[in-house]
Amino acid sequence: MKILGIETSCDETAAAVVEDGTRMLSNQIASQVEIHARYGGVVPEVASRQHLLSIIPVIERAMTEAGVSWKDLSAIAVTVGPGLAGSLLVGVNVAKAIALSRGLPLIGVNHLEAHIYANWLGDGSIDFPVVCLIVSGGHSDLVLMKGHGDYVVLGRTRDDAAGEAFDKAARILGLGYPGGPAIEEASRQGTASIQLPRAWLKGSHDFSFSGVKTALLRLVEAGKVSSVADAAASFQAAVIEVLVTKAVAVARGRRAKKVLLSGGVASNSSLREQLVKHSPLPVLVPPPILCTDNAAMVAACGYYRWQAGRTDGLDLDVVPSLKLV
Ligand code: KG4
Ligand code: ZN
Repeated sequence: MKILGIETSCDETAAAVVEDGTRMLSNQIASQVEIHARYGGVVPEVASRQHLLSIIPVIERAMTEAGVSWKDLSAIAVTVGPGLAGSLLVGVNVAKAIALSRGLPLIGVNHLEAHIYANWLGDGSIDFPVVCLIVSGGHSDLVLMKGHGDYVVLGRTRDDAAGEAFDKAARILGLGYPGGPAIEEASRQGTASIQLPRAWLKGSHDFSFSGVKTALLRLVEAGKVSSVADAAASFQAAVIEVLVTKAVAVARGRRAKKVLLSGGVASNSSLREQLVKHSPLPVLVPPPILCTDNAAMVAACGYYRWQAGRTDGLDLDVVPSLKLV
């Protein structure tokens, strides 16, 4: 069964065709990064206008790359939230138009759940339960996944999400946007020699990253940072140590089979290495291109929703503040 996935929740216009929830036949992503970089972050109005310009060519490219025509598709899956309302509306309305005109089932997908399902775009043989660490621009969630679509949130961020913290730290250090890749790149030339605080929030699986960001800001303001590379490496090490320690603690405490890492921050190679090194359970992490926003993960997630009979009508609407559960 081939599903066309559509993703427009933030600043990537993406479309992909995935077969049986695991086999990626195409994966097209039109990034708006260069457009937003000059403003230092995503400008919502600009993002939705850009999605409008890109969405049809991106879908056409995804269909061509997959070598499929409309009659080969069995359903359309689209991100409904969380995300920017104006951006989400573009994807949802295009998905509805295709579903209506081709008489195809429509499947509304939660973007966070889709990030988890990027891990199914391999051999797809994952036994439950699994522990999921989702780290993106808007979320840092530790989740126990007991089955398809069955989640218990164990911990979440109390302030800045991991990706948001990377983006803010990069701005503080003058490294530009998007911050995560810039911090990772700068870190390669430095050492984690600067002491920065870690918020352990003892007894809780929640995260807090605003303290480490503020500590970095204070050091920069006081003129105490002589090496941007060392500051970037120290910040990256502080955030990753907390993420890994908390994920490992949860993995030890649950009868899980695997740890699944996902979300844009999961493309950070140090995070990937540290989690694999310290986890008592096997770690699964998608290739970097499937960690950041893409539509293949939306199609994969849509497949399992469809299997569970969870399709939607043409009254499907965007839910900008949608939660995982
Ligand atoms: O999942 P994603 O593409 O979009 C959201 O759903 O938010 O995640 C984007 C976030 C941004 O904050 C970006 O700075 C961060 O992921 N990111 C990284 C890296 N690549 C992207 N953070 C750390 N290291 C990276 N290599
Ligand atoms: Zn995302």
